[in-house]
Amino acid sequence: MMSTRIPLNDGKRIPQFGFGTYKMTDDDVAHAVTFALREGYRHIDTAQMYHNEAAVGRAIAASGVPREEIFVTTKLDNPNHEPAVARRTFAESLEKLGTDYVDLFLIHWPLPQQYGGDYLSTWKVLEEFKADGRARSIGVSNFQQHHLERLIQDSETVPAVDQIELHPYFQNVGVAEFCRENRIVVEAWSPLARGAIVKEPLLERIAAVHNCTPAQVALAWHIAKGHVVFPKSVTHSRIVENLGALNVNLTVNEVERINELDRGEAGRTGRNPDTMQRYQG
Ligand SMILES: NC(=O)c1ccc[n+]([C@@H]2O[C@H](COP(=O)([O-])OP(=O)(O)OC[C@H]3O[C@@H](n4cnc5c(N)ncnc54)[C@H](OP(=O)(O)O)[C@@H]3O)[C@@H](O)[C@H]2O)c1
Repeated sequence: MMSTRIPLNDGKRIPQFGFGTYKMTDDDVAHAVTFALREGYRHIDTAQMYHNEAAVGRAIAASGVPREEIFVTTKLDNPNHEPAVARRTFAESLEKLGTDYVDLFLIHWPLPQQYGGDYLSTWKVLEEFKADGRARSIGVSNFQQHHLERLIQDSETVPAVDQIELHPYFQNVGVAEFCRENRIVVEAWSPLARGAIVKEPLLERIAAVHNCTPAQVALAWHIAKGHVVFPKSVTHSRIVENLGALNVNLTVNEVERINELDRGEAGRTGRNPDTMQRYQG
């Protein structure tokens, strides 16, 4: 089944269900992205930081799927925020991906304690990429509400998406709510809490009712809540299993029970964007 395409605030659309490539080596990408495209995935999430854009580009080219049918996202790496460096490395990303445009380009982390706290100048460089058509849409990742407010106030463009950590154990409620209110699509990274969620007893119980798996329940919960997701797996059976979440329809009551798994900050698995200042993720 093909996933729904969600409207973005700039008039474009994004496939709600995609494929993540964090921590994939070139060999992983060669077999996993190729397999995912064959199985019907049409949205690939990569990043300069993952050092696998060239492998992703090769897998797309070899797939035989027309470029315009695949939604490709990449992200500006932490050492590249300075405008001249952002311009150079964005061009390098396109070259590695073997394409003359990406569907979505993101600032990977706001890094408020680096570059004198100036992520606004970086954002204005992304606006150039959108204006010249090399990035069809632009957005951000790991931006907190106050970072988003600054962009909205001091630039021409409301980000199309905010890609944030979000899964049943860390629902990032405040940022997600702010995004909804401001027509910013929420992309949920680590939608399976990096795999930990599949051992959750509540999801096991709901999965038994639907005759599906806990991973599918978690992904169906994201879909019901309107998040864009791109679970990562290098395992063929899981790549197929995850896509099967599109056939799982949870009840309102099941969604609400999963909402209760939220542990707030204690559920976060990754870095806090307000204090993250590493040049390498
Ligand atoms: N913007 C950011 O800062 C940021 C940060 C993190 C991630 N991301 C993006 O979000 C994507 C997804 O996040 P993620 O890779 O961190 O975590 P994830 O998708 O929540 O989980 C991936 C892990 O779960 C396992 N897994 C996948 N499907 C499974 C299933 N059906 N049953 C059991 N285990 C399963 C995978 O194992 P195998 O691969 O061994 O099968 C892998 O270890 C990334 O790949 C990346 O594109 C963005």
